[in-house]
Amino acid sequence: MTEPDFLRDTRASYDAVAADYAALFHDELASKPLDRAMLAAFAELVKAAGGGPVADVGSGPGRVTAHLDGLGLTAFGVDLSPEMVAVARAAHPGLRFEEGSMLALDLDDGSLGGVVAMYSIIHIPDERLPEVFAEFHRVLAPGGHLLLVFQVGDESGRRTEGFGRPMSLVFHRRQPDRVAELLAKAGLEVRARLVREPEVGTVEKTPQGYLLVRKPG
Ligand SMILES: C[S@@+](CC[C@H](N)C(=O)[O-])C[C@H]1O[C@@H](n2cnc3c(N)ncnc32)[C@H](O)[C@@H]1O
Repeated sequence: MTEPDFLRDTRASYDAVAADYAALFHDELASKPLDRAMLAAFAELVKAAGGGPVADVGSGPGRVTAHLDGLGLTAFGVDLSPEMVAVARAAHPGLRFEEGSMLALDLDDGSLGGVVAMYSIIHIPDERLPEVFAEFHRVLAPGGHLLLVFQVGDESGRRTEGFGRPMSLVFHRRQPDRVAELLAKAGLEVRARLVREPEVGTVEKTPQGYLLVRKPG
């Protein structure tokens, strides 16, 4: 099957900037107390529901995967970009990172206690989001949890340059209520939502949205 342009362009864009991206964001969670709070709540909920492996989907350089590991979860990363996977493996040799797409995860049905997708559904067009949420529903065990993080807004755009290199990276900002509606249609239950203002002194330009979600069962 032919790969859609958006996947090819996203992969090539992150391949081009993987090392610089990792250097810029490697310590970012240190200055994001609400990100850490949501990840800590997610970890506690996953453990309370019986644990199980947690996939960090769109794991990039692996900073979130490593944080989840530090919270006592059995976390591994999946990313579209082979260069990002290579950077993550080099930075976190004790953790597992695999190439893959959130549209078709190479994981068994009901095999995960949790899924985290931080700033990765931002590269999925609206019409393909239901497929991604169906995939998250498929791989989660009943009672498993999902944490989604994304920029809040109504615009989509294309970045043509990153770290001084040409790229073609489409991103989508979204309203949490609309994302929550799609999650509900996929059979997932939104348990909590947070919108915070952009953090001063960072690259953030919009409010940031967090949805903590559960697969019933
Ligand atoms: C903005 S970065 C975020 C990385 C990481 N989650 C973090 O917060 O540091 C987005 C990542 O999602 C990955 N990604 C984009 N589309 C994807 C897809 N369809 N499946 C898997 N990963 C994808 C990109 O390759 C990139 O590494």
